[in-house]
Amino acid sequence: MRKNFFIFGILFLALVATIYYKTERGFLLVIILPILLVVGLYNIIQKKHAILRNFPVLGYFRYLFEMIAPEIQQYFIERSTDGKPFSRNQRSLVYQRAKNIDSNSPFGTQLNLNHSSYEGIKHSIFPAVVNKELPRVIVGGKDCKQPYNASLLNISAMSFGSLSEHAVRALNIGAKKGQFYQNTGEGGLTDYHLEGGGDITWQIGTGYFGCRDKDGNFSPEKFSEKATIPNVKMIEIKLSQGAKPGHGGVLPAAKNTVQIAKIRGVEPHTLILSPPSHSAFSDPKGLIQFVAQLRNLSNGKPIGFKLCIGNTAEFEAICHEMIAQDTYPDFITIDGAEGGTGAAPLEFADGVGMPFEPALIFVNKTLVSLKIRDKMRIIGSGKIISGYSILHAIALGADMCNSARGFMFSLGCIQALRCHNNECPTGVATQNKMLMKGLVVTDKSERVYHFHKNTLHAANELLAAAGKKNFADVDINIFMRGDEFAHLSDLYFPDNLKNVTQY
Ligand SMILES: Cc1cc2nc3c(=O)[nH]c(=O)nc-3n(C[C@H](O)[C@H](O)[C@H](O)COP(=O)(O)O)c2cc1C
Repeated sequence: MRKNFFIFGILFLALVATIYYKTERGFLLVIILPILLVVGLYNIIQKKHAILRNFPVLGYFRYLFEMIAPEIQQYFIERSTDGKPFSRNQRSLVYQRAKNIDSNSPFGTQLNLNHSSYEGIKHSIFPAVVNKELPRVIVGGKDCKQPYNASLLNISAMSFGSLSEHAVRALNIGAKKGQFYQNTGEGGLTDYHLEGGGDITWQIGTGYFGCRDKDGNFSPEKFSEKATIPNVKMIEIKLSQGAKPGHGGVLPAAKNTVQIAKIRGVEPHTLILSPPSHSAFSDPKGLIQFVAQLRNLSNGKPIGFKLCIGNTAEFEAICHEMIAQDTYPDFITIDGAEGGTGAAPLEFADGVGMPFEPALIFVNKTLVSLKIRDKMRIIGSGKIISGYSILHAIALGADMCNSARGFMFSLGCIQALRCHNNECPTGVATQNKMLMKGLVVTDKSERVYHFHKNTLHAANELLAAAGKKNFADVDINIFMRGDEFAHLSDLYFPDNLKNVTQY
């Protein structure tokens, strides 16, 4: 190819020069071709990129197509039901609910219902009346002095840093209007989380951002200062996150601006990796003592922890420690391995941790079997974007739900998969001021509010369709699976099947 480059390059140049000389046309080509030749010559000499050494000019098309591959995939290839992590249908549902426009779908389902993986609700022949009020849940166990009356659906942990300042502000204003909480994520509690007046769950990660001393260790004084702010309704200790359990937070250098570095107390424009484990405790006993310490320091606000389940014996040990110390968290947030993130190593995103459903079932069953289920709430977070997913999580053991990417869609996220490189085109997950400007806080906060409201209303409608009045009455018996149909056909038509095989 390099030989071809020289032959065609020189031939073209000669041709264009001749045309220009004779007709005085092709002026632009006379400029462009030499530039391409110089670029090509440079690429032939450089030693970093094999493709460009071998295809000095055409090689750039590979980079161009790589760059726009997600867009091509989404706009031209993806079908309505198969986009990843969220299908076009799922994203559209959130957009419509956020815009408060008709979210009904036409003509019938596009899913293959006669499949073993199909899951659906067994509706009642006698549906209940649809509740008008949006469901709420009280969080706060026996040692909690300031129980919190939470919405059934809230904004999951996403830090300022991972999200833009406009996104954080829009989420907070939406949360205030809809009376639900915004979880700060491990990046710390900032003014953007407070100025809208919405309820806050303050997350404490291994970096202790906002409550760390100069050596990066937990500072009780600094914690106490922020934990007692009235907007802070609950505090969540982050043990792990589904997309990267056992890894610790990642803030890419491109998103670590001077402002964010100042808030977190780190060096700007460098990659910030929070350690995988906490320095304030290192075993179940220490964790439960830390829960008690935070409760004291916050004047009795609800304290919980968030984790993705890995080694189940470790979770059981934590539960035994709760019983031994007679100290319980007010809530436990369960994140599935399919959870979202701003940035994570692919090995961790694809290959570490238990998915949401089995994790939720395991945690609920463990707490029930140890007779401590009533001491705390379980918050489920794993692709909760519709009324159906809320009911499903509750049936598997959750009391309430968090959604991260659902609320990102409500802000206008288009699943461009650029959260990690500061190039989010919608201004949601970037620190680029130009891109951020696209996200108008007043408009998007309304969408956040409507998405929450309309999704919970859809959950109320499903609840009524199942013949139930309260979410506390929802259990797994209202759900059916495709393999149940297969089982029923074997059960009811065995003779038919035998006849078929005989002939
Ligand atoms: C952009 C982004 C940033 C996140 N940051 C945090 C974080 O700081 N702390 C945390 O515990 N989880 C974080 N998460 C995980 C979410 O809180 C949530 O647990 C996970 O995405 C699953 O919920 P989802 O399926 O509704 O997105 C983040 C997720 C996203 C998409």
